[in-house]
Amino acid sequence: MFYITTAIDYTNGSPHIGHAYEKVLADVLARWHRMQGEEVYLLTGVDQHGQKVQQSAEKAGVSPQEYANEVTAQFIALWKRLGISYDGWAATTDPRHERCVQRILMELKERGLLYKKSYTGFYSVRQEQFLTDKERREGGDFGPEWGDVIELEEENWYFRLTDQAEWLKGFVEKSSSFVLPNFRKQELLYAIERAFDNDLCISRPKERLSWGIPLPFDPNFVTYVWFDALINYISFAGYLAEEGSALPRFEKLWPAACEVIGKDILVPAHGIYWPAMLHAIGLPDEDMPGLLVHGWWNLKGSKMSKTLGNIVDPNELADKFGVEALRYYLVRDIKTGHDADFDPDRLVMLYNTELANDLGNLCNRSLNMCMKYSGGIVSAPEGDDELSSELRLSLSKMESSFSDAMNQAQVSEALAALNAHVKACNSYIEQKQPWALAKSPEKKSELDRALGHLLESCAHAAFLLGCVLPDASSRMLTQLDAARLLQDKTPDSLAWGILPAGHSVHAPAPVFPRILSEEEKARSAAKMAGRRK
Ligand code: MSP
Repeated sequence: MFYITTAIDYTNGSPHIGHAYEKVLADVLARWHRMQGEEVYLLTGVDQHGQKVQQSAEKAGVSPQEYANEVTAQFIALWKRLGISYDGWAATTDPRHERCVQRILMELKERGLLYKKSYTGFYSVRQEQFLTDKERREGGDFGPEWGDVIELEEENWYFRLTDQAEWLKGFVEKSSSFVLPNFRKQELLYAIERAFDNDLCISRPKERLSWGIPLPFDPNFVTYVWFDALINYISFAGYLAEEGSALPRFEKLWPAACEVIGKDILVPAHGIYWPAMLHAIGLPDEDMPGLLVHGWWNLKGSKMSKTLGNIVDPNELADKFGVEALRYYLVRDIKTGHDADFDPDRLVMLYNTELANDLGNLCNRSLNMCMKYSGGIVSAPEGDDELSSELRLSLSKMESSFSDAMNQAQVSEALAALNAHVKACNSYIEQKQPWALAKSPEKKSELDRALGHLLESCAHAAFLLGCVLPDASSRMLTQLDAARLLQDKTPDSLAWGILPAGHSVHAPAPVFPRILSEEEKARSAAKMAGRRK
């Protein structure tokens, strides 16, 4: 079982391409593991509680639940549009989740791992949060962004995080799979050295924040949003679920959990609070999840943010360039773990070159030539000439690189390997010149071999692309009439000979229509108008 989850998105604002990237990445990995024949469960969802949602709701003049529902609907619609194949939906206002959070709180309290204490500190009225020395400016004061800062005494509930420090340090040091990529593990270890001065405050007084899960043992408080949200990974996996619940069985999904999260929420939430919480509730080291930490999409080198007003809307991109171009770009132009700069010109360039020109053209030409020269029937003559044997080798090398890269979540590398082979096929066409072979009847078997090789490569490429662009893949496989031939295949069992001798293919239809620039569109409109005259 491969249990894969993503961060759950805050419902205090509309989805942007950062959210979309993470879900597409998780979806591609889930599809890849399904193709491998593994049983996969992909969980994603929304983080609906907390101060930000309460504030946005107040501004909009609606209840926090109404506000969260409205934003949740936007996420759901986007995931549907982008083809995110999730199996479970984690919404933190779901009563099944609330119940699980409350049961965990009760248990920790009964075991003496939670305590109440009073804290006096500097509080920003505008931001509604306590400030620490980290928020002080060089001169020692707090900046104007915090508004009025007052000294406030407040009682709250705390989780004994400091008790977990020794264990966590040892665990992270020795584990080779808890955090990937490896440089993030170093970052986490560095943070752990500094993180444990204080226990974790896990409550907020109701008079300050009412939009949260009430503490089951103290009705004047609600649960801190991170403590609530992190639990989604286990609550929706069936942890402490009621008898007869429709949730999955926890023992089935856990511990094979891979949590796909952005770099900003590794420290302290996922790298410190979360393993400490899991350890405190009794999970052994071997049951800790793995964290796949991805980088960020930035815009012209700077962070995308609502305040800067430079958020890129995935729906607008999908309207303009299509879902497939967007999905492809989001995983093709970023190295998993690292940041990248979002650039719509590169989106168009990568789609037009690698999909429209390279792969689209390859399938189109190969099918067309097979229709024209062999009546749409594939034949597979024995033996290889030099060029064909090179192409066969290129295909098998591509497949192992593709697999290796995907198994390490390096989708961009996998797609680069695929594209390199597609390019090799296109140069094979140029070198073989099937149209010239077709002129000499004695070259018939060389022609058949060339077309057989090309169509075989198309079938393999279309199959592998299925984890990134499932719809395009299925359109290609339909034209090749190869879907049923690949039904029981996994990438590892993808040997030569998918298309048997005598197999019929269909006439092609463009799978990746070129994205035209505004100029090209204007030119082609003018041409059309000229023709009509
Ligand atoms: N609600 C918390 C997560 C709780 S998980 C128990 C949260 N939500 S978020 O909406 O702010 O972010 C959701 C995910 O999107 C995070 O993994 C975050 O890193 C990711 N991204 C947000 N902006 C991003 C980019 N610009 N680029 C890539 N991913 C980004 O954090």
